[in-house]
Amino acid sequence: MSWLVRVDHITYACAEGMIEKWAWFHIEVEGGKLVTRIDDVDPDNSKSSMKLWCIDYGAFGIALVEGIDRSDKSQATLFVERHGDHSVQHVAYDTSNLDSFMERLQKHGFDVLGEPISKKDGFGILKQLFCKGYSDLSPSETQFAEYVQRPRSIKEELEVTFSQQAGKGFYRQIEEATAEGRKTTFTNFSAKPSSWQPPEVAPPLSASYAK
Ligand SMILES: [Fe+2]
Repeated sequence: MSWLVRVDHITYACAEGMIEKWAWFHIEVEGGKLVTRIDDVDPDNSKSSMKLWCIDYGAFGIALVEGIDRSDKSQATLFVERHGDHSVQHVAYDTSNLDSFMERLQKHGFDVLGEPISKKDGFGILKQLFCKGYSDLSPSETQFAEYVQRPRSIKEELEVTFSQQAGKGFYRQIEEATAEGRKTTFTNFSAKPSSWQPPEVAPPLSASYAK
């Protein structure tokens, strides 16, 4: 059974002065809809902040971030310095049940960055879980996975909204990990049996992929 339902959103880190140009591309050329525009997510933070614009395509979304450097460099700036303009910082996958999937990840030796967070993001209400980096680059520079659960009914919306205690925001979680110099990764594959072999290749789940 697939635990992942679809891609929820993809987040690109933009170089200084580039968020507007990439937004133009995603909106006017690709046909996305601008649904969130925050030009300073943390105006009172003397260290750094960032811009966050969200573009909705209906089936999934794109988030653009651009660093605002103050006394420190923003995580978005550090990420762009390492990977270049408009680089994928993370892909967020919608799961059928986030709590169960988190247990599953942990059972298989995968490490999350912090507690799941319930909040409203640029695309609506969701519960989200951020994972440690795929690589051992610093927490600001590494790419990582985000898993989410979007409510599919009013009942689920109430569960998603009120079931979790408020967690620390994701960027705060990364900031703390960066400050502590933590460089642990998502997994060391200790749960993968050495005898594991890929299964026989099967037909695609959706016929449209094969066309
Ligand atoms: Fe995200």
